[in-house]
Amino acid sequence: MTEPTLEKTLWHPVALSHVIGTQPHAANLLGQALVLWRDGDGNAHAWADQCPHRGARLSLGRVHAGQLECPYHGWRFEAGGACTLVPAVPDFKPGPRCAATTFATREAYGMLWVRLAEPVDDALPIHDLPGFAAEAEPRLRKTTSGPYLVQASAPRIIENFLDMSHFGFVHEDWLGSRDRAEIPPYEVKPTPHGVLATGCLAWQPRSSIHAESGAQVEYTYEVTAPYTAVLTKQPEAGSTAIDGLWESIAMFVCPVTEETSVAWTRMAMNDFESPDARLIDFQNTIFGQDQPVLESQQPKRLPLAPDAEAHSAADRMSAAYRRYLKTSGIHFGVIR
Ligand code: FES
Ligand code: CO
Repeated sequence: MTEPTLEKTLWHPVALSHVIGTQPHAANLLGQALVLWRDGDGNAHAWADQCPHRGARLSLGRVHAGQLECPYHGWRFEAGGACTLVPAVPDFKPGPRCAATTFATREAYGMLWVRLAEPVDDALPIHDLPGFAAEAEPRLRKTTSGPYLVQASAPRIIENFLDMSHFGFVHEDWLGSRDRAEIPPYEVKPTPHGVLATGCLAWQPRSSIHAESGAQVEYTYEVTAPYTAVLTKQPEAGSTAIDGLWESIAMFVCPVTEETSVAWTRMAMNDFESPDARLIDFQNTIFGQDQPVLESQQPKRLPLAPDAEAHSAADRMSAAYRRYLKTSGIHFGVIR
């Protein structure tokens, strides 16, 4: 047996919790097809989407009496993966060879997280569930946008989320202005879980759905896992446009393959008035502006060599993110 790749030993988001019910749901993670389903106790499961009998997709089956039933010959599997019934031979006692392939799961941030392989050293910070501190703040309201299916690698999507210098062009009249595109110097430092950038300033014509006029906005950006980034908006003192509005947004990316991904944003906002649809619409608009550019980038995987692409001082965070991936042993989206 070959050693699992580091990426397979990390927690990855695969679906919003609420879409996983008694109807089996198909997903893909690192080239592995998954069936997601929920048992009678409400526990979510992620299994290989392949029946151990003749390889049919279990996601085409159904959940019956808290067990997953294969669509082909009706073999039934209990929550732990063991086969409990072979309908064609009811007296047969199925052994371990007949069990489904199961993976570890956790539910957090309104999502199901899956780990395909056990890490050799579980104590490393990289094996923790990706952090999103604002989730625990009860004074902030939580909403999720996505899934966004993107023909781009996970690290390219995270880099885009960390990048302020595209605001005036990709998000002109929304998050930035081409006439005020300058990004002043900001601080970047490594953390136990990734990288933190502070004092990130940008002029924004419409930094949120509440902004009625332009404002200089300060952000912190944090990478908390290889494919998770969090931005936190600091309200500027005296700014009426965003006065009292504090928000933190996480970008969670599932590496479906080396060059395709599914992304979600998790919003934690000091805003209990706006309907979910309005917050989600805003995110959809912003991500819809990013997507064609993301899908146009070549190469799709982040290049390995530090001098493979040109950099400016505004890319300090992007450079720190690449260094973090490299020192963590993440092979830039290459699944091995
Ligand atoms: Fe699943 Fe036969 S292939 S029961
Ligand atoms: Co963007």
